Amino acid sequence: MKKRIFSGAQPTGNLHIGNYLGALKNWVALQEEYESFFCIVNLHAITLPQNPEILKQKTLDLARIYLASGVNPQVSTIFIQSDVSEHAELTWILSCITRMGELERMTQFKDKGKDNRERASVGLFTYPVLMAADILLYQTDLVPIGQDQKQHLELTRDIAERFNRDFGATFTIPEAFIPPVGAKILSLQEPTKKMSKSDDNANGSVFLLDDADTITKKIRRAVTDSGTEISFDESRPAINNLLTIYQLLTKKSTEECEAHFAEKGYGQFKTELAETVVEFLRPFQEKVKEFDDSELQKILKDGAEKARNVATETLKDVYAKMGIVGTR
Ligand code: TYM
Repeated sequence: MKKRIFSGAQPTGNLHIGNYLGALKNWVALQEEYESFFCIVNLHAITLPQNPEILKQKTLDLARIYLASGVNPQVSTIFIQSDVSEHAELTWILSCITRMGELERMTQFKDKGKDNRERASVGLFTYPVLMAADILLYQTDLVPIGQDQKQHLELTRDIAERFNRDFGATFTIPEAFIPPVGAKILSLQEPTKKMSKSDDNANGSVFLLDDADTITKKIRRAVTDSGTEISFDESRPAINNLLTIYQLLTKKSTEECEAHFAEKGYGQFKTELAETVVEFLRPFQEKVKEFDDSELQKILKDGAEKARNVATETLKDVYAKMGIVGTR
């Protein structure tokens, strides 16, 4: 039997090249080897205020982005989180065994809730429990994610281990798959921060649906470090980040990248990087438009049904182990 993968992204903001290089690219690379579930996590999205019309649109747009990235619906299961109510049910169960202290330590909550903790939603606080439920429902072996989700995955493992210890073996303990290169693509404007969908400055991110002109401008305006050498060097995060994007898209080795730019300046480098990104995104952007609504609905409906079959079994087992009995 194949091992299982689960991963997801939120249908908020616009997906950027960091989301692709840190996560989606690896989903596609691993999907044949594993039995894969890729979820559009719309219930996570509402932990921050969302406009309902925009959320609706973004949910379907994200499905198109998964498909255009190369997630193959013949091989992988693509579905919307809210279509499988077991996610919300298991979240309640797990929230009864998760400790306040564990959630207090989550850096993402500290970051997102920091402006006004009193007014942050309870959902934002318990967000990692919903993420644990997503993963554990599918008896997931591997979770391909970027660096920023590592702490959430560690919490998921702790919750699963606690449940198994207290109620008997129930959940598979998942491992994170964090790529050695590309797990944290940085903002083009503030290369100390990660590239982020929720960044107020759109110039910090190359969005997957940006047009060629916009991409070229953003890369031309990208912050660089002092010095002129174009090499991989963690102490020069701006150029290191740009070169990492170049390397991942061209699939060249570190040495090849450095040799290629050895005699060239920042201007030339940025021109070539912009061309590389534009050329890479062109077929992707054409593919995004390919799927019509009815085709998409069918993929998502079939996906939800497959996901539900697995999720129901896990939840039944959880209820039985805990002594939650009723009449259904
Ligand atoms: P989200 O929607 O913020 O991001 C989707 C994926 O993109 C990765 N990522 C990055 N990788 C590299 N560089 C960056 N700058 C960068 N920014 C984001 C993220 O690590 C993620 O893998 N909580 C999750 C969604 C989620 C999930 C799950 C993931 C919900 N349930 C279960 C895995 C398993 C999130 O908000 O991702």
